[in-house]
Amino acid sequence: MGMKTDMRLIDDNGLRIDGRLPNQLRPIKMQVGVLKRADGSAYIEWGGNKIITAVYGPHEAYPKHMQDPNRAVVRARYNMASFSVDERKRPGPDRRSVELSKVISEALTSVIFGDKFPRTSIEVYIEVLQADAGTRVAGITAASLALADAGIPMRDIIVGCAAGKVDGVVVLDLNKEEDNYGEADVPMAILPRTGEIALLQMDGNMTYEELTAAMDMITEAAKKIHQMQVDTLKSKYRGDEDVE
Ligand code: CDP
Repeated sequence: MGMKTDMRLIDDNGLRIDGRLPNQLRPIKMQVGVLKRADGSAYIEWGGNKIITAVYGPHEAYPKHMQDPNRAVVRARYNMASFSVDERKRPGPDRRSVELSKVISEALTSVIFGDKFPRTSIEVYIEVLQADAGTRVAGITAASLALADAGIPMRDIIVGCAAGKVDGVVVLDLNKEEDNYGEADVPMAILPRTGEIALLQMDGNMTYEELTAAMDMITEAAKKIHQMQVDTLKSKYRGDEDVE
């Protein structure tokens, strides 16, 4: 973020390096029920991101001291495959993936009716196979589909999406170059029906007005992504192809 460069991220026509308008999403494709042995699963392609998610549970939490007598413990594990990024990622957890696992766990916990399953754990695996910026929000979007696929009751299907600022312009859904060389990145997860925010982070610098504009852009896009999630879940039961 904010690395010095001569690279222009917005051209004279106001278009971005991949030809998008400031408020335009990258192409998104999603699919549920992709893994036979998980209780729920989903796959998402979002721009250059390719992420598979799986849910196990709810099942009795183990070890026992991990149990919460009142509710299910939701444990998300965000993992990047070694081959998912330009420079081979060392396998295993690092600071970044520990942080992402934590914030994603908290976001998902806030929408799950955990009190229906005391003493259990619900494990959510987010496996990033190919990364191109926005993996945490794409991961949340797919994870909530996997949770729905597992039949876990939730207040709503949660949507993740990011916005940010590049060359002084507030833009939706940053790609890798925009994430690297832009001025700010704001990943957010929301419940589109109520507008509740389940995750909000910011990297870089923006004014209050720019942040508000970014959040409004995400809120608008989230309605569209939410509709895709609903269509994806419906299509599974009709046996249709993936939703684009
Ligand atoms: O993916 P997300 O935007 O949620 O998180 P980030 O920490 O802002 O990372 C942005 C992007 O940087 C990732 O999506 C990857 O494309 C890239 N990255 C990488 O190339 N190598 C890493 N070890 C971590 C991230």
